[in-house]
Order: sequence, then structure tokens, then C-alpha cells
Amino acid sequence: MSSKKTLFSGVQPSGQLMLGNYLGAIRNWVDLQKKYDSLFCVVDLHAITIKQSPTELQDRTLSVAATYLACGVDPSLATVFVQSQVAAHAELSWILTCFSNMGELSRMTQFKDKSAKQKSIGTGLFTYPVLMAADILLYQTQLVPVGQDQKQHLELARDLAIRMNTQVGDPSDPLFVVPEPFIAPVGAKIMSLADPKAKMSKSDEDANATIFLTDSEDVIIKKLKKAVTDSGTDITYSEDKPGIKNLIDIQVAITGKNSDQIVSEFAGKQYGHLKLATAEIVAACIKPIREKTETFMKDKGALLGILNKGADKANERAQATLQKVKKAVGFVLSLALISLISGGCASVPATPEAQLGPMPTTGPVGSTFSKHGEKFVNCGRDAVTIQTGSTQRIDFRFTILPSGVVAKPRIDGMSSPDPDLHGCLLRALAKVQFPKPKDKKPKEIGYTITIRPE
Ligand code: TYM
Repeated sequence: MSSKKTLFSGVQPSGQLMLGNYLGAIRNWVDLQKKYDSLFCVVDLHAITIKQSPTELQDRTLSVAATYLACGVDPSLATVFVQSQVAAHAELSWILTCFSNMGELSRMTQFKDKSAKQKSIGTGLFTYPVLMAADILLYQTQLVPVGQDQKQHLELARDLAIRMNTQVGDPSDPLFVVPEPFIAPVGAKIMSLADPKAKMSKSDEDANATIFLTDSEDVIIKKLKKAVTDSGTDITYSEDKPGIKNLIDIQVAITGKNSDQIVSEFAGKQYGHLKLATAEIVAACIKPIREKTETFMKDKGALLGILNKGADKANERAQATLQKVKKAVGFVLSLALISLISGGCASVPATPEAQLGPMPTTGPVGSTFSKHGEKFVNCGRDAVTIQTGSTQRIDFRFTILPSGVVAKPRIDGMSSPDPDLHGCLLRALAKVQFPKPKDKKPKEIGYTITIRPE
């Protein structure tokens, strides 16, 4: 497990990514991924809170992932994955829904805004912030880099974490970390070019309102030339000139200069000059992102490979929290899940040098240790005890084929072997690189796991 703090963020594939998503969120992820154990998710479950075309949603999901990479998200540093591939998001969301209340969800500004535009208001739109809380809390996230518009949702995630920790959690081992938002001082609220009092949005019906990360230089110049500005002619930075302020804010976010510097550069010049200069700065910023996104989209196999690997990693981490929560609310855990969260087998180093040896244990024989919320007793060679709900001792054997592949797990002493548990053992064992038997004959190995009450 990494000693770095955990960071989680995501974007909905509900439209092409746009300048606000980049300046308000993704750009900050790229800097923060070096310092934090980061997970970046394409939140497709969120996207279906409004009607989507299935083929377009599939394509956009991949395109959003490709854009993450094009912006500089590095899959060797961060876990990049698609939300719907990790079922724990939906499962935790349901549990959190049962700890949320109508009042707090009705107060969400984004729900009020979005539902005002719909004839029939979908339930998903209403419970959406709870799903967002699940996304964050599943990974014991400390930091959530987002734009200004997500602050209220983050507050709900914090409230739900505190509520569950207090109501069903163990005070000495809280269920959830209470996350903090990270809202950058610049770029956190880029406004629409058509209506500078509204935020720029990827799903705006007016195509001129939004600069997409796929827009060409010509389109960017055309859109910025049409940007709605304010009465008067002086270029000043003030709230009563929201159109001009927005263009200056965009320049500040991209160039790193401050607003005073930009205002003085345009002293005596006209709005048209500011629009054109902004267009050039934006086009230069977006060009490499657009080109790299196209390159990543050309090799969908490689992209899917990154996403599958990310989903596997995310899934394993999410299960650790989900099982802890399920136990806290009173659900009966299946043996297979208990075995999976033990992580015992899976933590055998997966290196070619790994020798056939005892199950990984910590400390002297008889000592206890905790992992993923479960207690273990070290029983010495070839044995690990998991202290949990029911008593069961499992002796299992498996065979290493001459190719080094693990086969035929057999569980002794179980009258009706549990197929889930077999599958789980095989999955765990598949992570261990066993040396090929020297005599080129299949080799049988045995381990013991004892499960007994706490
Ligand atoms: P979404 O997809 O609307 O936007 C993705 C990110 O972009 C930021 N953003 C903006 N920043 C500056 N100016 C703008 N005009 C602008 N518009 C959007 C958003 O604040 C966001 O950071 N619910 C989220 C997605 C989500 C999420 C999560 C985020 C789901 N689960 C967990 C963080 C953690 C959303 O709809 O973002």
C-alpha cells in the first residue's frame, strides 16, 4: 500500500471535454498525480442521469479517457479507469443513499439547475451526488481536485462519511476518511462565452458557448470572436464586466500571469484585441491535447488495456472499503469475499524469484495483524488464520503445472465446496509467479487457511 495520500477525481462523459474541465480539474490532476496516490475515473454511471445514445456514450467514454492521457495523466503513476467497470461504486452508492435524506439532496444547486431544464425529472439526477460520494469514499480519498461547481457535492460526501462513521462505524477504526476538496485559485470557474453569467458547460445547447478540447484553431478563433462582452470599451477586471473578466481569467489560468498584468498589456486597446489574443492563447494550449487525443484514440486496444488494468486495481481497492462497510451495516459476508479481502495469497510477491514457501505472514507465530479491516493470526508455515464471522478451517491444495501455471485448486474438509471460493483461490494464486517444477512434472502444493469467529 502506498504511503502517499489518496486523491480521486473524475469527469462525466456526457459531452466532449471542454476548456473548463481542463483548467478547473484535469490540469491540476497532472501536477498532483506526482505527489498523491491518484485515481482518475471516467464517471459513465453519472452520465446516464440524462438520456444518452449508447453508441455515443461508448465512444465518448473512450475519448474522455484518451483526453486524460493527452492532458498528461500518466497511467504509470495513477489508476485510470471507467466507473461502470467497478461495481462497488453502485453498491456503495445504494448503502449511502439509505444514509442520506431528501432535504439535503433537494438543496443541491446543480440538481435545482438541471431539473429546471427537464420536463420529467429523473431519480438519478436527484441521487447523483450520493453516487459521487461513493466514488470518493470507496478509496479512502483525502483530496478531491474539482472545479468550484462541485464544492457542494463534496460537502455532502464529507457529511455522509462523518454520518456513517458515527452511526455504524467503529470509532477506533473509522469506515471512511473525510475528504477535502482541492479547488485551484485560478481556472475553477470558467464562464460560458455566450452568457458570461453562466458557467461553461460541455452540454450547452449553444455550440458557441463552449470551447471543446477537440476544437480546431479556426473554430476557437471564431467562437472567441463571437464571445459576448460587456457595455463600454475599457478593458478592466471587475465583476460588472463578466464577459471581459472571463476572457482575462482564461488568460490568467493558461499563462500564469495575474489579472493586473493582463489588464496593463491591453491598456488603450479594444475588446476585439483581447478576444483575438485570448483565442491565440487558448488555441496554442489546446492544440497538443487535441492531437494527442487523436493519437490515443487510434489505438483503442492499448487504451482498453490501460482501462482494464486500472479497473482491476480500482476493484481490489474498492472491495476493501466495501466489505468493511457491508460488515458495519450488518450484511453477512460470503466466504469467498472474506478470503479475497484477506489479501493473504495476493500479497505474495509476484516476482520470478518468489519461492514456494509459507503463506505471507507478519511477525512471530501466534502474533496477530490487521489488513483491510480483518484480523489475522500468524499460525506459522503454510497457515494464516482469518478472525471473522464463522469458524472454518480450509485446507486447500493446488497443482503447479510444468508451465508454472496454477491449476486444480481443491478444498479439503468442505462437504460442499464453494465455487466462489475456488475461483477466489485461483485468482489469488494466479498473482503469484511460481517457479516451474525442475523435474518438469506437475507438483502438488498444500496450504491451510483457518477462519474462526472474532
Ligand atoms: P463534470 O463532468 O461536470 O466536470 C468535470 C470537472 O470539471 C470541472 N468543471 C469546471 N471547472 C471550471 N470551469 C467550468 N466551467 C467547469 N465545468 C466543469 C468540474 O468542477 C469537475 O471537477 N460530478 C462531477 C464528476 C464526478 C466527480 C466524482 C468528481 C463524479 N464523481 C468524484 C470528483 C470526484 C461532474 O459532473 O463533473
